[in-house]
Amino acid sequence: AIQRTFSIIKPDATQRNLTGAINAKFEAAGLRIVAQKRIKLTKEQAGVFYAVHKERPFYDELCDFMASAPIVVQVLEGEDAIAKNREVMGATNPAEAAEGTIRKEFALSIGENSVHGSDGEDTAKEEIAYFFSGLELVG
Ligand code: CMP
Repeated sequence: AIQRTFSIIKPDATQRNLTGAINAKFEAAGLRIVAQKRIKLTKEQAGVFYAVHKERPFYDELCDFMASAPIVVQVLEGEDAIAKNREVMGATNPAEAAEGTIRKEFALSIGENSVHGSDGEDTAKEEIAYFFSGLELVG
């Protein structure tokens, strides 16, 4: 089925001018960028977005990193978009990511791993709603 998923191009990638190269990977995989904006989060906003990881040892570092430089937030649409996006991103840890994936090619570490993508339909809906209004989603 046609789905929408939420994507972030993270600070490590925006700071290395990789926005276009990463978007090219999404588009080549058949994912349409139906919404996109460049923003800079506060640490507090990053903390709300990643609240599910609050108890993890890396939470503070993760929030600092996500607030360290601009990010690009996006909505990607396509056939099985959630799974397709996760395939194109590759494993969270770039050392385990498959050849040709975004994280294999661009990520620096498990923290500075260039992209985020929703892990399921419910989180996709929540994450899209956190960053975008309905008016900003243009299929
Ligand atoms: P993401 O898909 O954005 O969701 C949570 C993020 O936490 C994850 O990508 C990683 O970038 C980050 N993360 C996961 N494990 C670690 C870790 N061990 N150390 C630092 N960051 C981590």
